[in-house]
Amino acid sequence: MSAHVKLEKITRKYDGIMALRGISLDVKSGEILTIIGPNGAGKTTLLRILALLDKPSSGKLIYQGQSVDSSNTPFLRKKITMVFQRPILLNDTVFENVAYGLKLRGLTEDEIADRVEAALDSVMLKNFAHRMAKKLSGGEQQRVVLARALVLNPELLLLDEPTANLDPTSATIVEKIIRQLRGRSTVVVATHNIFQAKRLSDRVGCILNGMIIDVDKPKNIFTKPRNEIIRKFVRGEFF
Ligand SMILES: Nc1ncnc2c1ncn2[C@@H]1O[C@H](COP(=O)(O)OP(=O)(O)OP(=O)(O)O)[C@@H](O)[C@H]1O
Ligand SMILES: [Mg+2]
Repeated sequence: MSAHVKLEKITRKYDGIMALRGISLDVKSGEILTIIGPNGAGKTTLLRILALLDKPSSGKLIYQGQSVDSSNTPFLRKKITMVFQRPILLNDTVFENVAYGLKLRGLTEDEIADRVEAALDSVMLKNFAHRMAKKLSGGEQQRVVLARALVLNPELLLLDEPTANLDPTSATIVEKIIRQLRGRSTVVVATHNIFQAKRLSDRVGCILNGMIIDVDKPKNIFTKPRNEIIRKFVRGEFF
């Protein structure tokens, strides 16, 4: 599989805090890659850089063979969608929230209506179109933001803790949707949920203190971890 995005020695420093310390990683086209690691490890920072929403302090990003710089960032950003850890919604209906990106892209009203309906259907929110998005429960809001991302058919979809606020049934729905994207979009999921990483991933990247300490197939990460830190983390013994 070719690299959809290649990261070369990426660092990100925030006011003296080294959030990422030299990450080199290939995200392969069509794979589901999960990034696991404890709070503060650098997962969100890494996703924001992959989404081209944030610039690394040093290092290089290559998107489908093209070196990313300020001249091609606006164009490449349109191919990528990130779903944030905390849902950010417009003060409008569910329909308008999901339709927003399509309107910006100039689709016709009929196309927009069809695509929004299909996206809401896939997240089991078919009858929610006319409800005010901000009045929904946390888990329902999380599914609205997922629908808003899916409706755009992004080449690269970045999901930051996509099931953190969801009950088990909703989490199962969301995981099923993510699995259906395999081979069609490239998907990177940040999670602290080890079981989710096992269920979803083609590959798992372990991040700790801003460094990727291993990337491998889930069965290798979870059954024969290469080092003691990963072993502790996947067994829930990490402090
Ligand atoms: N805007 C910011 N300014 C200063 N420090 C930041 C900023 N964003 C993140 N950090 C720091 O960078 C480190 C990595 O943060 P990041 O949000 O990427 O972690 P994470 O793995 O997503 O954690 P969590 O599991 O809690 O979501 C942390 O130490 C955090 O405090
Ligand atoms: Mg985070």
